[in-house]
Amino acid sequence: MAKVPEVTISSNVEKQLMPVIGMGTCSYPPADHATVKSAVLEAIKVGYRHFDTAFAYGSEKPLGEAIVEALQTGLIKSRDELFITTKLWCSFAHPDQIVPACKMSLQNLQLEYVDMYLIHHPIRLTEVIRKTPVEVEIIRPIDLKGVWEGMEECIKLGLTKGIGVSNFSCEKLQEVLCVATIPPAVNQVELNPVWQQKRLVEFCKAKGIHITAYSPLGANNTKWGDNRVLDSDVLREIANARGKSTAQVKLIFFHFKS
Ligand SMILES: NC(=O)c1ccc[n+]([C@@H]2O[C@H](COP(=O)([O-])OP(=O)(O)OC[C@H]3O[C@@H](n4cnc5c(N)ncnc54)[C@H](OP(=O)(O)O)[C@@H]3O)[C@@H](O)[C@H]2O)c1
Repeated sequence: MAKVPEVTISSNVEKQLMPVIGMGTCSYPPADHATVKSAVLEAIKVGYRHFDTAFAYGSEKPLGEAIVEALQTGLIKSRDELFITTKLWCSFAHPDQIVPACKMSLQNLQLEYVDMYLIHHPIRLTEVIRKTPVEVEIIRPIDLKGVWEGMEECIKLGLTKGIGVSNFSCEKLQEVLCVATIPPAVNQVELNPVWQQKRLVEFCKAKGIHITAYSPLGANNTKWGDNRVLDSDVLREIANARGKSTAQVKLIFFHFKS
């Protein structure tokens, strides 16, 4: 089976290898536990080694169970073969809550460490609530210095190998870079042919921060996306000329861009 190419990323002193294609485990409406677990197991069978989850998705537990089963059945020999990303939810984006939130995610995942821990959004919520969109009244500014110190502590405690952010603008990233001892390795943002975020991509490239694209197919069939990517005439024309699907052309586009 062909191996998914890897990219070298670094936040910690140790460099990490991250498979460039990962499987997301967020769905709307949320998929049930058994569906997520079997989808992950099927993904491992066909060669996926990078999985993206978050406390907010409710998919940490089924992903963790799939990993246990993959080890038991010999689909993978060691947990180290996988690259697992999870995220600090906004309800815990307070300096005192970062380490406990990371430990809670590890417990859900039945893992001793994750490979990447990301701040999910640059905001704090005053309530423990998973559903989005959230009421504007419960949104507060985030204490980025204190929260980033908590993220660095997670690395020092061995709870995660790398740390990063998600949904951060150039300005928010600059704020983190000004206070960081360990800089963010990754910024996970929405990126696709109709939302290319060129300024952010250039900024991250200059600072050595790897961009991970979410909703690469434009998140069709979800409440936050639409069909503009998969219905694009230009992509369809390229796909027809190459005998590929629009989705395949789209994913290749981002592989070469990153
Ligand atoms: N950090 C964040 O804030 C954030 C936000 C959003 C997402 N994410 C991450 O990114 C992952 C992917 O996000 P997403 O679900 O929005 O991404 P997406 O890949 O752009 O959209 C998924 C949709 O694409 C369709 N699809 C998948 N493969 C296809 C193919 N070969 N041809 C045609 N349609 C295809 C699926 O439709 P069907 O359902 O009909 O199969 C699904 O509804 C999530 O699971 C999550 O891990 C992160």
